[in-house]
Amino acid sequence: MTIQLKRKQLHLAYSVILLIRLCLLPSPWLYQCPHPPTFCSQSELNSFLWTIKRDPPSYFFGTIHVPYTRVWDFIPENSKKAFQQSHIVYFELDLTDPYTISALTSCQLLPQGENLQDVLPRDIYRRLKRHLEYVKLMMPSWMTPDQRGKGLYADYLFNAIAGNWERKRPVWVMLMVNSLTEVDIKSRGVPVLDLYLAQEAERLRKQTGAVEKVEEQCHPLNGLNFSQVIFALNQTLLQQESLRAGSLQIPYTTEDLIKHYNCGDLNSIIFNHDTSQVPNFINATLPPHERVTAQEIDDYFRQELIYKRNERMGKRVKDLLEEYPDKSFFFAFGAGIQR
Ligand SMILES: *[C@@H]1O[C@H](CO)[C@@H](O)[C@H](O)[C@H]1NC(C)=O
Ligand SMILES: *[C@@H]1O[C@H](CO)[C@@H](O)[C@H](O)[C@H]1NC(C)=O
Ligand SMILES: *[C@@H]1O[C@H](CO)[C@@H](O)[C@H](O)[C@H]1NC(C)=O
Repeated sequence: MTIQLKRKQLHLAYSVILLIRLCLLPSPWLYQCPHPPTFCSQSELNSFLWTIKRDPPSYFFGTIHVPYTRVWDFIPENSKKAFQQSHIVYFELDLTDPYTISALTSCQLLPQGENLQDVLPRDIYRRLKRHLEYVKLMMPSWMTPDQRGKGLYADYLFNAIAGNWERKRPVWVMLMVNSLTEVDIKSRGVPVLDLYLAQEAERLRKQTGAVEKVEEQCHPLNGLNFSQVIFALNQTLLQQESLRAGSLQIPYTTEDLIKHYNCGDLNSIIFNHDTSQVPNFINATLPPHERVTAQEIDDYFRQELIYKRNERMGKRVKDLLEEYPDKSFFFAFGAGIQR
C-alpha cells in the first residue's frame, strides 16, 4: 500500500494510524473487532505495511502486542526489508528505556498512603481479592512446559504482574485482571512484537525514538471518574467470575487477534468496526442505565486513546518527516495499552 505524503493527504496518515490502532488494541473488552472469516489462504499474508513515497521512502508498520514468535513467520519479506533498510525506527513508547517502565509503573499507582481497600466498595474489593487468590492458585497449572523450561515460574510471574495490586489504581487493576487469563498467561515470557522490533533495532544499532510520552498514554486512563471505573471493574469481575464458574466463554481471544493479524484481514477489520464499538460486556441482560455507562466509557476511551492520540502522533510523525527529509523512517505503531 502506498501513501503520497502531501499536506492535504496527511489525514490519510492519521487514518492509517487510527485504523491500525482501533483494531489491534489488546484489551479484550475495550474494542472488540468483528470476527472475519477465521481462515485465510497462505497467499493472503499480513500486509500491515504502508509506504510513504519519498526519497528515501518511509514506512508505517502496524504491530501487535502478542508474542512475536506467533506472527513473525507471517510477516512478509517486504516489511522485514523495510525495517532493515530504514535509518530510524520510531515506536509509540520507548519500551527499552528503563525510565518508560518506571514511569508507567508509578503512573498506575494510587496516591501515596492510599490503598485499594480504602478506595473500593467492600463487595468489589472482596471479589477482587478472591479472584486474584484463584488466579494465583491456578497459575502453575496454566503455565506451559516451555515456560517452565525457560525458568519462568508461576510465583515469579504472578508477582511480576499482580504483586503490588493493592496499590494500583482501580482502572489499572481492571486491565490487569483482564490480562490474567489462562490464554494470556501462556503467552508470557516471549517478547511481544513491538518489543522485539525495539530490541532488533537496538541490536542493529539503528537510531530509535518514541512519538509519545508515558504520561500521554497513562493519564487518560486515570481520567475516568470513580463511578465509571467501579462499573468497569465490576463488569470485568462479573465476567471473570462467570468464566470461573464455566458459564461463559470469552467470545474474543488473543488467538483470534493473531489469526486476523496473520491473515492481514484488514478490510473486514477496518470496515466493520462501526458495528462493534461497544465493549463486549454490553449484553442483552445489562439494564438500560448500565448500558449508558458502558457507552460513556467507550466514548471516553475512543476520544482519549484513539482520536486525540492519533492527532498528536500524526502531528509528530509529520514534523519528523519534514525535519529530516533525507532519512528513511520506520514507524512501528500498534497495540495501545501497556499492561
Ligand atoms: C461520571 O461521569 C458521568 C458521565 O460524564 C456522569 O454522568 C457521572 O455523574 C460522573 N460520576 C461522578 C461520580 O462524578
Ligand atoms: C455490579 O454489577 C451488578 C450487575 O450489573 C449489579 O447488580 C451490582 O450492584 C454491581 N455492584 C456494584 C458494587 O456496583
Ligand atoms: C452479561 O451481564 C450480566 C450482568 O451484568 C453478567 O452476569 C453476564 O456474565 C454477562 N455476560 C457476558 C457474556 O458478559
